[in-house]
Formats: sequence, C-alpha cells, structure tokens
Amino acid sequence: MTMQNSRLFLSPPDMSGREQTYIAEAFESNYIAPLGPMVERFEQSIMNLTHTPNALALSSATAALHLALRVLGIGAEDIVLASSFTFIGSIAPILYQNATPYFIDSDTKSWNLDPTLLEEAIRKAPKKPKALIVTHLYGQCADLKRICEICTAHDIYLIEDAAESLGATFERQQSGTFGIFGVYSFNGNKILTTSGGGMLVSPHKELIDKARFYSTQARDDAPYYEHTEFGYNYRLSNILAAIGVAQMEVLSERIAKKQMIFEWYREELKNINEISFMPSLPNAQGNRWLTTLTFDHTDPEKIRLALEEENIESRPLWKPMHLQPLFQEAFRIENGTSQSLFEKGLCLPSGTKMSRADVARVCNLLKKSLA
Ligand SMILES: Cc1ncc(COP(=O)(O)O)c(C=O)c1O
Repeated sequence: MTMQNSRLFLSPPDMSGREQTYIAEAFESNYIAPLGPMVERFEQSIMNLTHTPNALALSSATAALHLALRVLGIGAEDIVLASSFTFIGSIAPILYQNATPYFIDSDTKSWNLDPTLLEEAIRKAPKKPKALIVTHLYGQCADLKRICEICTAHDIYLIEDAAESLGATFERQQSGTFGIFGVYSFNGNKILTTSGGGMLVSPHKELIDKARFYSTQARDDAPYYEHTEFGYNYRLSNILAAIGVAQMEVLSERIAKKQMIFEWYREELKNINEISFMPSLPNAQGNRWLTTLTFDHTDPEKIRLALEEENIESRPLWKPMHLQPLFQEAFRIENGTSQSLFEKGLCLPSGTKMSRADVARVCNLLKKSLA
C-alpha cells in the first residue's frame, strides 16, 4: 500500500459548509428534540424539490417504508411485490408487517425491475398483490411509465424506494413522486446525508398525517397519554434536520458532480471492451449516486481486492433478495439478470470530493488487474 495515498471511500459524506450554522441555530432555539423548525424547513425543501404537497422527515428510509405499508393497511394476509435487486432496507418493512414479499427480477435495459416480469408475477401470485415497492437502484430510474400503467390497471399501490435516487427524474418528474408514497434516504453514504434520516412523501395529506401519527407513538388527541393504536418512535431530530437543510442547498451541485465522475470513468475506460456501465433509460435522468459497471471476463472480486490493496474502497453490486438465505422459500419471478449483475458487477468510488486524478488512479489500477 502506498502510504501517501489517502483512502478513497465509496461515497463519503460531503458537507456544504452551512451545516454548523444551521445546527447552531437549532441550539439557539433550544429545539434539541425530534421536531422543531429545522424539521419543518427540511420537509419544505423536499416538497419544493419534488413538487409534492406533503413530506414527513423520519429517522430512516426503512422507517419511512414501514410507515407507508402500515398506513396502507398491509398486513399478514397480504402479498407485496418488490424489486429483488435492492438493499434489505427496502424489504425488511414487508416482514415487519408480517406480509409476504414476492420478488421480481431486473431487465437489462435499466438493471431495475422488469415490467414484463411484474405482469407475470401479478398473474401467477396466489392472490392479488396489494402493493409494489420498486427501487431505483444506484440513483437510476426504473421504467416508471410501464410500472405505473401496470399498477393502475391492477389496482396495486405503488411505493417508490427512491432512497438512492434523490433528484433523479423520469420524463422530467422527480423519482419518488409517481406512486402513492415515495421514500428518500439520508444515511451516511447517500448523495446527501444527515448521518441518518429518511423522508416519506405522498400526494395525499391524510396519508402523511396518519404516518406522522404512527411515527410519534400514535398518541391520541388528549392532554394525557391516550392510545387507541400503537405506533413507533421514528421522527427525525431537529439537529439532524439542520444538517439536511444545509445539504439540500447543494443537491444540484452534488448531482452534477456525480454525473461528471461517471463521465470521467466512462472516458478513462472507454477502450476496455469487457466493461459495461449501468445503463440509463432514454427518458430518465439519474443522479449517478454510484458509478457501477460489469466485467464480461474478469472476476470483479479480483478488481475489488486489487483496489483495496491500494486503499481504495469498491463494493460488489447488491446481492438480489431472491438469492438471500433469508428468502430461500420466498415467491420470485427470475430471469437471471440480477444474479448475473451481482456476479459480474462492481461499484466504484464515487465520492463528490473526487478529482479527475482520483478517477484516473482508480482506472489505472483497474486496468492493470484485468484478466
Ligand atoms: C435501496 C435502498 N433502500 C432502502 C435503504 C434504507 O435506507 P435507510 O438506511 O435510511 O434506512 C437504502 C439505504 O440505506 C437503500 O439503498
């Protein structure tokens, strides 16, 4: 390992410089609590970005998905369709509600949920599925046009897991705003971070009001603590929301930088025939949260280890849910796409502080390790 080279992380936090100012404001107002003016400002900034009338700041995107399912009344009798090529935080809320997940594989055009398989899953499911959780992986959109048409035709609630795709658009509309609920994540490695946090959005005020109620222990309207239902402690702290307010001010810069990093990688690696980058649908504009690619012949683990040797973090693509030991028995419709992506793929460091020279350093090492 070359000592002078500092570690290149996959996607480390990148503060705007205004965070401390807003945190200080939060301290001055003494709202050191899970609610307060910064929470409202953070929610407002998401509503402004997404043109959605209702937003609820929460402790994580996982919590946001859980509330979405709870508010929609999804329970033990229900089947929830879901992208298989995703992170467990997208799926665990289905289990929290004791519902049954039904995993759908990806297409090669988007690497995201395959709409044709979605139709097949609806036909083959033992009963009518109640909802679909579709993930926009690595900040790139799934085929929302077809997915929306199918969900509408079959009367299935569409929930978008836009945890990784804040600011990405499909036909100029923000990801996360196509369904009954959308979810964004602000955990430590996302395009923006509050160290940990999430946001739930919906066009329906009464649904967000209900989610807010469940997120604060389902307290009834009484001077004492009265409960007719149980809830959760899922709200975001006013201090973390202050970080979110500052981060939202630089979202467009961060997206532009992520896209530039992707272009740099493309340029550096354009002569390597065995490499394919994650595609983008023609009518979508992803945020390129992570630059991801596949190798035709080389084992990506060999590349990962070679980069690690030089203090560079890279990561395999998500292991599909239908291949997880936890879901051995689960319903699935598979076509081999996400398995092949998992076996051949790698996420490259994509931090927004990276320079062109950093990208060149990664690419030179990568080229040296090819088969
Ligand atoms: C696709 C996807 N869904 C859900 C989550 C869960 O988000 P959180 O960590 O905010 O709960 C994440 C990331 O962590 C994610 O990448």
